[in-house]
Amino acid sequence: MRIGIVGSGMVGSAAGYAIALLGGASEIVMVDHKPELARAQAEDIAHAVPFAHPCRLLAGDYAMLEDAVVVILACGVPQRPGESRLSLLGRNADVFREVIGQVRAVAPGAILLVASNPVDIMTEVTLTASGLAPGRVIGSGTILDTARFRTLIGEHLGIAAQSVHAHVLGEHGDSEVLVWSSARAGTETVAHFGTRIGQPLTEAARARIDDGVRRAAYRIIAGKGATWFGIGAGLARIVQAIRDDQRAVLSCSILTEAVGSVRNVALSLPRVIGREGVLTTLAPDLDAAEARALERSAEILRDAAKGVVG
Ligand code: LAC
Repeated sequence: MRIGIVGSGMVGSAAGYAIALLGGASEIVMVDHKPELARAQAEDIAHAVPFAHPCRLLAGDYAMLEDAVVVILACGVPQRPGESRLSLLGRNADVFREVIGQVRAVAPGAILLVASNPVDIMTEVTLTASGLAPGRVIGSGTILDTARFRTLIGEHLGIAAQSVHAHVLGEHGDSEVLVWSSARAGTETVAHFGTRIGQPLTEAARARIDDGVRRAAYRIIAGKGATWFGIGAGLARIVQAIRDDQRAVLSCSILTEAVGSVRNVALSLPRVIGREGVLTTLAPDLDAAEARALERSAEILRDAAKGVVG
């Protein structure tokens, strides 16, 4: 299975590295407007392959994306320290419109996996420019925020993040919604489990975890200039679900018909992902405050997309 990655910077190369290590593809093609960067990233990742799974690393122009099953769009400009994701919209929308035309020309059947921020609106830009069905244009959305949420809840409760079933929904950004009310470990709510083991999820603990999730990117960017390992692994997880037709439930962004009173907006909900992309969406289990926050997140995205999405 061939995976294409357009944009061989930190996020694109981290995704290629994670896909190679997790065994998500038999071929990975790195493309970049700086061909030398794509070649160097491909060669570097290729040297990790002997420690993992067989995978051919290639680099070249768009023509090499032919027959790709998934094309990851990780091109454009990243956040600068303190910059919000939404502020990247104008610059990245122009880059995307040029890239999508070239990708569609050589890989018309590929699922498009959007990584560049603001990822929800870039998902809408991609959908409009590609003409594909909504389930075949997937934004990484809050898959990373959900991982951060599960990690911090797991650390607080002393259980593996993989055993925490909690979601972050809505915008991959400042208005995202941490869904506490239905967060569970096994069949017990994390709130009840925390109280029972003497690790209550007090208001202070929840505020600490909320900051740990919502402000993670800002902190990491301040420290090292960008984030890439978490998002790279999140993209690889989505590729795995597509490659193996897993029907896995992952928080991802696609165009969504209605969120409260807001219509036709791309944001993250729990999606079932398989070989054909997003197969269906699960209804989030929210309390009244969370439902209001999700609708507010949708409103913010809807307003930000005005005039940009064709
Ligand atoms: C982050 C970037 C991928 O949240 O938006 O790390």
